[in-house]
Amino acid sequence: MTDAILIKGGTVVNDDEMVKADVLVQDGKIVAVGPDLHCEGATLVDAAGRLVIPGGIDPHTHMQLPFMGEIAVDDFYSGTRAALAGGTTMIIDFVIPAKDSTPLKAYKQWRDWADPKVCCDYALSMAITTWNDSVSKEMAEVTKPEYGINSFKFFLAYKGVFMVHDDEFYQGMLQCAKIGGMARVHAENGPVIAEKAKELLSLGVTGPEGHTQSRPEELEAEATNRACVLASQANCPLYVVHVMSKGAARAIAHHRQRGAVVFGEPIAAGLGTDGSHYYSDDWLHAARHVMSPPLSRDPSTPEALMRLLACGELHLVGTDNCTFNCQQKLAGKDDFTKIPNGVNGVEDRMAIVWERGVHRGIMDPMRFVAVTSSQCAKIFNMYPRKGRIAVGSDADIVIWNPDATKVISKDTHHQAVDYNIFEGQTVHGVAEVTISRGKIVWQDQRLSVEAGAGKFVSLPPYCPYVFAACQQREKVIQPRSVKREPIAEIESLKITDKQQTTKSKVPPGGGSQISFA
Ligand code: URP
Ligand code: ZN
Ligand code: ZN
Repeated sequence: MTDAILIKGGTVVNDDEMVKADVLVQDGKIVAVGPDLHCEGATLVDAAGRLVIPGGIDPHTHMQLPFMGEIAVDDFYSGTRAALAGGTTMIIDFVIPAKDSTPLKAYKQWRDWADPKVCCDYALSMAITTWNDSVSKEMAEVTKPEYGINSFKFFLAYKGVFMVHDDEFYQGMLQCAKIGGMARVHAENGPVIAEKAKELLSLGVTGPEGHTQSRPEELEAEATNRACVLASQANCPLYVVHVMSKGAARAIAHHRQRGAVVFGEPIAAGLGTDGSHYYSDDWLHAARHVMSPPLSRDPSTPEALMRLLACGELHLVGTDNCTFNCQQKLAGKDDFTKIPNGVNGVEDRMAIVWERGVHRGIMDPMRFVAVTSSQCAKIFNMYPRKGRIAVGSDADIVIWNPDATKVISKDTHHQAVDYNIFEGQTVHGVAEVTISRGKIVWQDQRLSVEAGAGKFVSLPPYCPYVFAACQQREKVIQPRSVKREPIAEIESLKITDKQQTTKSKVPPGGGSQISFA
């Protein structure tokens, strides 16, 4: 065996087990897991005292996204390279068609950008930024295996740019339910935010502190609640991206308790820092933290979100990695609404979750694996190919040293962006070796990656993990109509207007078409 890798002496961690075992990799796959494995000629990786975990999967990135007049500086090369250095071996990026483009055109654009550059595997999720019959048809088209899309994102913010209105969102989710694609939502109240921004600017609040004041947390909670309600009405599974506040998390928990199929994704930024930075005296420092929804100004939010992840009320961790250099942030120096929105995270996500979750005793290593890879693999229909250390799974593996520490800094990170929102934080938990597609790509603090070595992963629709309950509900909850006498016969009874006001029978739920509660 020439290109085989034998990982010896580590503790294999999956989302449901921790077991001492060796792992043998060949031809990009895991071929054996067990005690005392041997393999002539294999490259040996010593994992004694280390954890052997599935490579991280970041469900939410925006590499080289054109947004707010700028292009995000981490592209599919620098972004995926940095991901590997931090122990993430797959990303899910968003195709976001401009209002005058189409899903199919934008899809081709994203593949053209990503395929030659990606250093790790990647998949795509499609944003729906405008609504008409043709968009609806193209949604169905892109769920075919050759396109491999099984989720669609709707922005309830960024008025006039990416935002859709509630009727469009609802129509879009009806189509999602029909074609087996999960809906994802950026939950904020775009129209009200636009009004508040105008008010603040007219009062002379032009700095980054205006960004957070124009987007109060209760607007995120309101939109999250609204999104859950509308998803239930459409009988469509929902995934709330970047859950930034306790109120939004509470809305998700509330709807889950009532039977809604909804998943919540906090991000590294929201778990690893907070919104106090918006009030920094240093304009640039504050501007670097501008993202939407904003980081919470409540300093207890990061830990609260981590606790919700640990207990299963929130489900997986993304990053929303969308990086703009300081020079690009300066586009909003006189007007906070023009600061390009977005922060880093793709490289540091794993370490932030370990530090704030496992090292602090809030979650165990198995839950760490769940929220950094397995849940994502399950929700996006690629489990156990991804997100598990098992025979037959892809050899995307990280040798994780739980005791090592590092200080996060823009000076040592591998991202292209010229700052790091976690600057100066010491984290326990370090990816010592990263194996992607069966090759060692990160070892001894050195990357050996190749642009285009990663592959596109086609995601099949109708993921049972997401859709099983909704499909059953579709069968049992049918619209109902009331059988009545023909109108002519009623007229012949010469019922007066007054008599007609007698009680009519209203179906349960006030006649609404679908109600799960
Ligand atoms: O501020 C953010 N989140 N930028 C990226 C675009 C988005 O909303 O996901
Ligand atoms: Zn968003
Ligand atoms: Zn995003």
